[in-house]
Amino acid sequence: MNILDIIAKKREGKELNDKEIQYFVEGYTQGKIPDYQAAALIMSIYIKGMTKQETTNLSLAMSESGDILDLSKFGKNVVDKHSTGGVGDKVSIILLPIIASLGIPVAKMSGRGLGHTGGTVDKLESIPRYNTNVDIQEFIQNVENIGISMIGQTMNLAPADKKIYALRDAIACVECIPLIASSIMSKKIASGANKLVLDVTVGHGAFMKTKEDAQKLANEMIDIGRLANIETVCVLTNMNEPLGYAVGNTIEVIEAIKALKGDVPEDLKEVVLELGSYMIKLAGNGDNIQENKEKMIENIQNGKAYNKFLEMVKNQNGDITYIEDTAKFEKAKYIVPIYSEKEGYIHEINAEAVGKLACSIGAGRVKKEDVIDKAVGIELVKKVACHVKKGEVLAYIHINKEELVEESRRKLLDIIKIKEEKVEQEKIILGIIG
Ligand code: URA
Repeated sequence: MNILDIIAKKREGKELNDKEIQYFVEGYTQGKIPDYQAAALIMSIYIKGMTKQETTNLSLAMSESGDILDLSKFGKNVVDKHSTGGVGDKVSIILLPIIASLGIPVAKMSGRGLGHTGGTVDKLESIPRYNTNVDIQEFIQNVENIGISMIGQTMNLAPADKKIYALRDAIACVECIPLIASSIMSKKIASGANKLVLDVTVGHGAFMKTKEDAQKLANEMIDIGRLANIETVCVLTNMNEPLGYAVGNTIEVIEAIKALKGDVPEDLKEVVLELGSYMIKLAGNGDNIQENKEKMIENIQNGKAYNKFLEMVKNQNGDITYIEDTAKFEKAKYIVPIYSEKEGYIHEINAEAVGKLACSIGAGRVKKEDVIDKAVGIELVKKVACHVKKGEVLAYIHINKEELVEESRRKLLDIIKIKEEKVEQEKIILGIIG
């Protein structure tokens, strides 16, 4: 077998068999296939697509490229969560401590930013000294000791995905159903959970722009889950405008801390509660979705969720004085207010455009090797459907590069579309599949 034949076969739109997929995954993970050949194959997959069988084989081959965790010691139902990516998506940082505070074990491996979307690991790393680079034994020990651990994809779990994920990001091959489905499901199979709730985002800021594509992606992941014995529920959520108000790293962590203390924006709250209520159900801790939401709210109100977050940060070496006093976080040099130039109602804040703007000022990576500037980002003050007066502050740009201030201010003003007519808020939860 050789990689040139495999690339040519996919380039012609033909179906790859499991041996060919395995050959590519193993060869690339071990460094025997160079980036340029992997890039050619990934681009061919992006353009020609994959059958369901190929996507399943790719997921299984990637999950088997490293270790597979055994979490069975945490009970017969071990539940995990993942998102297909969004802008302002700090859901895991809020949701998972709530779930752990209800006595449900949480062993979560998260990703870094991809394309215009942010990554939970980058966000957690804005907490000084928080260690996302934890080996398997310590990861499991953390969950045993305090019921929760949130780490990065740093250990030998689905290493093929780690390489392919970074490559896709660098060659504009992110928005592709078989590649997203296999990326997510390979990690989840390797992570050892047997129940899974997926946040499948839809809209401008998501990789799936339409509900139809999101449903297709959800169904592919559910089918792969079924084959791998992972019961999967997909919650379709609206990602037309950023989730919550903050888009960045430190500023999203601060928004998450406030949320854990009860001050949570309505759209973010809906997503957290919906996903969480299904996690509780799949964990076998309650079939009634409404009651599950109430249990979550109770643990926010009584401080248990916030305390669990503090405990997790402390356990992973993070400096909790920053959590207790968020004013300690390093701020960007310039916090630039964006004033409305007219009166009216906000009709659109395109999440993809906000995500790209945030990346361009340093909140995400434009190139694979870029170092993220934790302090920068976009802080919205108004959201879609809000009425604004001329001269009112619409948002702040947190920025360190003075030379980008004026251009970014102009861009953000363009992104926030204001019209005279009233507009309704969009639905946040768009459907449940599974
Ligand atoms: N999240 C992932 O883990 N992989 C993708 O491809 C997209 C979102």
